Amino acid sequence: MRIDEARPYVVDKLKYALNPSSIAVVGASRYPTKVGNKVVSELLKWGYQGKIYPINPRADKVLGLKAYPTLRDIHEEIDLVFIAVPAHLVTAVVQDAVAVQAKVVTIATSAFKEIGREELQNNITQYLRDHQIPLIGPNLVGMGTPYAHFNCGFIPYLPVEGPVAMISQSGANLLAALGTSQMNHFGMSFFVGLGNKADVDFSEFIEYAQNDPHTKCLSIYIEGLDSPQAFIKSCQKVTKPIVVIKVGGSKIGNKAAFAHTASENPESDDYYDQVIKEAGAIRAQTWQEFLDISLALGYMPPLKGDHVVMVTNGGGAGLLSCDHFERCGMPLHELKEISPLLESRIRAYMPMFGSPLNPVDISGTASVIQYKGAFKQVLRDPNVDGLLGAICPTAVTDVNGVAEAAIEVYESCKDLHKPFIMICQGGQECHEAIMKLRDHGIPAYPTAEQAVNAMVALRKQAIK
Ligand code: COA
Repeated sequence: MRIDEARPYVVDKLKYALNPSSIAVVGASRYPTKVGNKVVSELLKWGYQGKIYPINPRADKVLGLKAYPTLRDIHEEIDLVFIAVPAHLVTAVVQDAVAVQAKVVTIATSAFKEIGREELQNNITQYLRDHQIPLIGPNLVGMGTPYAHFNCGFIPYLPVEGPVAMISQSGANLLAALGTSQMNHFGMSFFVGLGNKADVDFSEFIEYAQNDPHTKCLSIYIEGLDSPQAFIKSCQKVTKPIVVIKVGGSKIGNKAAFAHTASENPESDDYYDQVIKEAGAIRAQTWQEFLDISLALGYMPPLKGDHVVMVTNGGGAGLLSCDHFERCGMPLHELKEISPLLESRIRAYMPMFGSPLNPVDISGTASVIQYKGAFKQVLRDPNVDGLLGAICPTAVTDVNGVAEAAIEVYESCKDLHKPFIMICQGGQECHEAIMKLRDHGIPAYPTAEQAVNAMVALRKQAIK
């Protein structure tokens, strides 16, 4: 349901959704294949430290925990109620949640507005609004944060800790991001699936994220915006970078968005371009770009100017990069135009057959010492705004050693506040180097284009 702006009571109470002291799981089934059972087992598996109250009138115990017939039987404070019973039972459970003064209600159940039962959804929403209890969902997969070992939903993964708050309307894409987080060390601060977002809107999680100490970048997946003005207002209030992917712009995608999360998109895709621009957010076109630029904006400061220097041991990676920089409207400048002194300094770290153009090619035989020296010279040059490093795994390249050198240089130059991004394209040792770099806060990617997109996003963030 539409809102004019983020409601303060909602923003304030979202802490109970992401850091609750107690959770009641309604519909906590005795059977491990069912959603409610999974919610409890994932809470236990990932080490949630608060109290868990399984609610199931047919069970005495669920997964070893005492079960209660209804919420009213608990007689303790309940921060979060997570509902996973069929739709026809939800209204009664919501009445119980109000009676016990729960702080936040979450409904995983499907079969509301997305199948035409708008009235049922609106009645539940209005009832909870009247009692100032935020409702997340219905039709949602869950939420959590690795910082509290908190995985609340039917979600098989907890992401690794990091800077990105993932606010997604789609459960499936949220799961994709969480899986990627574990596999590719894409660090998250918290995550939430909003589902039909009958009540709690993007804007409220956006304002919550501004106050979350672990969040450095907000990444938002949108299928429909019910309250575009609230979205714009909240984004404008936020000082952290925001990346948006808005889907459902195609003719059939528009209908699919309604069937999925009851999202209505009466406006053209250009309209959303305008909304996102006015909000001061960066729009990603593809899922990969969405993840890549989120990571960069989470870890790195904005790129103050377009004096980016690339240092590589492979001319091919250099060429892919400089062509893509130009395609993105941010062509590389030759080194001598950026800083004439840098050219002579950097020559000390390359063989005579290297190229100090830009990309700076320190050649396929580059050693860890040469990389380290070149990286330092580039970052310390006052005319340079950012560094793009690339590792190509020739048989004489110490891939891990170069990654460690990059981390050492990055740590020693952190106070210069210059973006440092790495490319490492190749086999297993390159994947491991990327993971190590990411674990130390350096955005690293397996292809040149991904890294360039990330650097360009940092420039957009600086000039937005
Ligand atoms: N309070 C609490 N628990 C109750 C209850 C009540 N009033 N009435 C019944 N239950 C119990 C059931 O007995 C059952 O436990 P049991 O298996 O031990 O007997 C449990 O709650 C679940 O009820 P059940 O009828 O088996 O439902 P279900 O698990 O098959 O389905 C949903 C419930 C919510 C999962 C289903 O309706 C649904 O919406 N699925 C789609 C969810 C989805 O995809 N969301 C979007 C993600 S992106």
